[in-house]
Amino acid sequence: MSAGSVASLRLPAHVAIIMDGNGRWAKERGQTRVEGHRAGSEATREVVEVAAELGVKYLTLYAFSVENWNRPKAEVSTLMKLLERFLKERTEELLKNNIRLQAIGRLNDLPEKTRQQLHLSIEQTSHCTGMTLVLALSYGGRTEIVEAVRSILREVKLGHLDPAQINEEVVSQNLYTRYYPDPDLLIRTSGEMRLSNFLLWQSSYTEIYVTKTLWPDFRRKSFIEALDDYSTRHRRFGRVS
Ligand code: FPP
Repeated sequence: MSAGSVASLRLPAHVAIIMDGNGRWAKERGQTRVEGHRAGSEATREVVEVAAELGVKYLTLYAFSVENWNRPKAEVSTLMKLLERFLKERTEELLKNNIRLQAIGRLNDLPEKTRQQLHLSIEQTSHCTGMTLVLALSYGGRTEIVEAVRSILREVKLGHLDPAQINEEVVSQNLYTRYYPDPDLLIRTSGEMRLSNFLLWQSSYTEIYVTKTLWPDFRRKSFIEALDDYSTRHRRFGRVS
């Protein structure tokens, strides 16, 4: 399927992706995990570009989870450096494609240099009006909900909020994702059938697409296949229709 034919499909406004399988991709080739992440970084660049080109409004990428800090120190450090390099080298491209960069997660956990580059790229692209690219970094869905509960309780304690007023909207407004709509489509690569603590609250009615393709091999064609599959889904949001 070509980008042209995708234009006629029902396009998800918000696509979220669990980019999985860099390690397995490298292992299959007798390469190091670092090389897998490097190849994964290239796939990320391509998917960001095609998503913006096709008219997706929000793309959220699970780039580093709170659990990922438990990986070997060398791998964590490589991932942080890759992220920093990706931001340094790709910000021009984001600007050229009118893509606004944002980030969610415990950003203060990131190494100083990575965080500085992240904030710089966010600032430099803040005027862009095309797609919003959201990087989930040191992100955990449960952590996000715990932080939301804390901030709601602070409001209650200050007398700004009555517990009876707490509803789904209030919870949503206290999540990192308060500025974005819930994802319409969640893609997971490498075949695992789980959410892995990603956008737990926000994915209540999200369509899920799992492919066996490993992330470094997930390119333009694979992304368009996922959109094609989404366009055939009948979303009922719990209703009968
Ligand atoms: C999963 O592969 C991927 C990650 C832990 C992080 C995602 C990182 C990238 C795509 C590269 C850099 C990102 C950016 C934004 C430049 P895995 O290591 O869990 O693979 P495995 O399950 O096969 O071991």
